[in-house]
Amino acid sequence: MTSYNIMAQHDPHSFARPEMAVVTHLSLDLRVDFETRTLQGSAYINYTAAPDAKELVLDTRGLTIKSVQSKTGQVPFRMDPSLEFLGQALRIPIQDTAGGITIQYETSPDAAALQWLNKQQTAGKNQPFLFSQSQAILARTWVPIQDSPGIRFTYEATLHVPPTMLAVMSAENPTYKNESGLYHFTMRQPIPAYLLAIAVGDFEFHELDQRSGVYAEPTMLEKSTYEFQDLPNMINAAEKIYGPYVWERYDLIILPPSFPFGGMENPRITFATPTIIAGDRSLTTLVAHELAHSWSGNLVTNATWNDFWLNEGFTVYFENRIMESLYGKDFADMQRKLGQKDLLETIEELGSTNPDTRLKLQLEGRDPDDGMTDIAYEKGNNLLMLIEDYVGREKWDEFLINYFHQYSFRTITTEAFLQELKDSLFINDSSAFETLKINEWVYQPGLPSNCKVITSTKFNVVEQQAQQWYHGTPAHQLNTAVWSAFEWIHFLQVLPATLTPQQLSDLDNEFHFSQSGNNEILFNWMMCCLANNQTAIYPVVEKFLNEVGRRKYVKPLFQELVKTKQGKKEAEKIFTASKNNYHSITQETVRLILAQ
Ligand code: BES
Ligand code: ZN
Repeated sequence: MTSYNIMAQHDPHSFARPEMAVVTHLSLDLRVDFETRTLQGSAYINYTAAPDAKELVLDTRGLTIKSVQSKTGQVPFRMDPSLEFLGQALRIPIQDTAGGITIQYETSPDAAALQWLNKQQTAGKNQPFLFSQSQAILARTWVPIQDSPGIRFTYEATLHVPPTMLAVMSAENPTYKNESGLYHFTMRQPIPAYLLAIAVGDFEFHELDQRSGVYAEPTMLEKSTYEFQDLPNMINAAEKIYGPYVWERYDLIILPPSFPFGGMENPRITFATPTIIAGDRSLTTLVAHELAHSWSGNLVTNATWNDFWLNEGFTVYFENRIMESLYGKDFADMQRKLGQKDLLETIEELGSTNPDTRLKLQLEGRDPDDGMTDIAYEKGNNLLMLIEDYVGREKWDEFLINYFHQYSFRTITTEAFLQELKDSLFINDSSAFETLKINEWVYQPGLPSNCKVITSTKFNVVEQQAQQWYHGTPAHQLNTAVWSAFEWIHFLQVLPATLTPQQLSDLDNEFHFSQSGNNEILFNWMMCCLANNQTAIYPVVEKFLNEVGRRKYVKPLFQELVKTKQGKKEAEKIFTASKNNYHSITQETVRLILAQ
């Protein structure tokens, strides 16, 4: 059995039995058919198995399995009944301890991982577009595979796409279109299934330096290149902190606005929402986040989705370190403060006794997507900041460099991480664990009392200005000339909950929030108006929601809308008109909100 899979844990979200037979390599040969909105072709799978293993079990959901063949011929496979969100186990009898099988299959037009866009839904409106989102357990809707973060394999793929299009995957990628529409991909480093990714459309590549560049639709390429100019510096900064970037290239692809996330850390090519293009490079923190996943997540991977904080908490921490090294402490403090505010709000919203506010999650029996909240990100980050503060940055960094090195291409459970802390970082300090209340942080809900309070001098100034305005100073007399996007976001977030229509228009007339090209500012402004039942904002919200499918924005806007009768009607109208622009992940979220 390959060394990186030795530690495979029982994963409640996969049917795989890796201790019996585990996938080691995948080879795809797929036709990308925009007419039928399906992928058709074959998956050749290499596995290694225990001597007494009788079957190889794969995860599938909504796939049509046409045949399974081994080198000796057709294999009689079985499909278990389908379970909600988990799909169906595909059971393939095996005789050898190592071997390969070929599965002929086809995806369903409504495969949850895949979003098929018609040409009107793209920036160029010229060609249709396809992209995937496999995390958390959606890879099985487009590839028959062991879909568990604890199981890694190498892969290669051949894609047949319409000749006018380019295709990329989380692998070695082409940078030019070719006439034949035939592309070949190789990923030599073992990755878990949730990092399988594909995008096909009318996009082009622009290099930033020798190891990084941007893919975007032609009409977006120049803007994107400008926005992400600092990417090479980010990679260099990250390497200086936690060691070499091991994935060779780091590219970005800017997807159409329906992409349900801000970013997805697909190896070698981060998938990103266009909503981070503000024109002034003010929202590129997101790229630092996805880049940081190249260490925390892609190199050292959470064993199951219950350990999700090991991916996201570490990534938020590392992202912040990258930004600090590029733009300084004031900048990083603002970001930390915004994160901590999110954390307090999320705990408030979920309730401080809610089991989902623990770092170690219990997602068994549920769709993991339902339990993956900001807690993993921000409570995780706050715990790591606390540890850093306690041992000092130098010692903490040394520990993390080792951690990323020692667990490279492996998975880690929460328990193994805590053991590492005890055995290594706290080796000469047996009371550290208790002093820092680490078990409480990890296994108890709510926020422990020793959470560090973040202060930001820049935000203190913003708060004073907000107060002055509230107490009568007109908006045009405020001192805002040097404010960054973070300061504006904070300003909007610290405004008193109740504002009059006059106050809202004073702000908008002076600062033009409704027309902001910075989506983070625009979003906070729309939220503020909706919370104050300012129906004049409806057309702005409608336009935004018709285009943007990023769940981080879509979800709170709909939640806020449905709080009033008129808003609920508006929400229903907007959803009817916009739902086809949303990925299934976002559609599902909005449906739940509207059904309440
Ligand atoms: N890996 C996540 C996205 C994700 C998480 C997809 C869970 C599916 C399930 C990605 O790295 C992420 O966290 N994206 C954030 C941006 C980040 C700056 C916090 C997002 O999409 O908003
Ligand atoms: Zn992340």
